[in-house]
Amino acid sequence: MRAAEIIRAKRDGRALSEPELQAFVRGLVDGSWSEGQAAALAMAIVWRGMTRAECVQFTRAMTLSGQVLDWRDAQLPGPVLDKHSTGGVGDKVSLPLAAIVAACGGVVPMISGRGLGHTGGTLDKLEALPGYRVNPPRSQLLATLHAAGCAIVGAGADLAPADRRLYAIRDVTATVESVPLITASILSKKLAAGLQGLVLDVKLGNGAFLAGLDEAQALARSLVAVACGAGLPTLALITDMNQPLGRTAGNALEVAESLALLTGRDAEPRLRTLTLALAAQLLQLGGLAASLAEAQARAEQALASGAAAERFARMVAALGGPADVLADACLPAAPVVQAVPAARAGVISHIDTRALGLAVVALGGGRNRPGDAVDPRVGFSALQPLGTALASGEPLLMVHAASAADAEAAAQAVRAAITLADAAAPAGPVVVERVADAAA
Ligand code: URA
Repeated sequence: MRAAEIIRAKRDGRALSEPELQAFVRGLVDGSWSEGQAAALAMAIVWRGMTRAECVQFTRAMTLSGQVLDWRDAQLPGPVLDKHSTGGVGDKVSLPLAAIVAACGGVVPMISGRGLGHTGGTLDKLEALPGYRVNPPRSQLLATLHAAGCAIVGAGADLAPADRRLYAIRDVTATVESVPLITASILSKKLAAGLQGLVLDVKLGNGAFLAGLDEAQALARSLVAVACGAGLPTLALITDMNQPLGRTAGNALEVAESLALLTGRDAEPRLRTLTLALAAQLLQLGGLAASLAEAQARAEQALASGAAAERFARMVAALGGPADVLADACLPAAPVVQAVPAARAGVISHIDTRALGLAVVALGGGRNRPGDAVDPRVGFSALQPLGTALASGEPLLMVHAASAADAEAAAQAVRAAITLADAAAPAGPVVVERVADAAA
């Protein structure tokens, strides 16, 4: 089956057959499809879409492109649960959430990804911790799950290898924004991870891949239907990404903010609310709480008591990171830290979240080409939420940069991305909608 014929068929709007989709996935794994051919088909899918049946078949082929994990022999102490986000700016929920769910009796082998486009990646964040091993051997992964109840790691060479190659290509060819591509990408890793429950955070707004409510709903429904159809109990929350989540964006800075949330030193309200909401959904889905109210109370208690922080510390130590991670002294710091002053007095009425994400990438916190190294030190802190009133000259945020020139370029991007006005409409809630399986 010639790659060019498959690309041509999708370019012209035809639904691909299962053998054609399997040929694409095989070509991704064995290298017989070039990067250009994979990018061309990805772009054709962005434009032409896929039928639900195609998306199911594509997801299955991607899942079966590598090993499918099976935890039955591992004697894990609870249901195997996970959460995944479609990607945002400042979205560090995975770090505290994994630890909260573990503290409440779940087992969370969280298979995470790297930054994609303007969005940050959980693995890039955790690699800011010196020594943290994102690709441990299975024995270390199991030991971590037994010790901590959670292990946030990469997909490993054997897990959905087709997605690893396609993800890196999509990241740099403007082919992320597609319901079937995102569905197959996320679910191939999750279905291969042997889970018993999955909660998805589908982002909505100008920092999401799919900005509009209709698109976010379509993505949430696609993800939930394909996952549930494959036998994985799944639900989704559609959540707001019209502003960065929390006070930081950038790898080490986001780890520091996660530690502050876990230890009670600081809790930005939207970040805390969303973390607890997703954790509660997952606890209920996994049968660890009889009602959502009970699940919410358990999650809050895990955070307030320090039990979640302790789980996180155990996870980091078991995966080779600092033994004293909660002390927060182990994270690398940028040499240049400077405020971006507001050019006028006013209320923050609009934030171009994607532009802020791209500014983090430009600072070196993300990639322009597959395989680029990221600088863990750079990014933004002291981000102010929509509706914040600022006096002229007060900081819009703090830039953390590798050089003064980088900081100045980022400051310009920030000034263009954050709008100050005389008044602002109140920001909407962080959790917008819950999407469960229509067939259930
Ligand atoms: N996260 C993924 O794993 N894949 C996507 O395509 C988008 C977000």
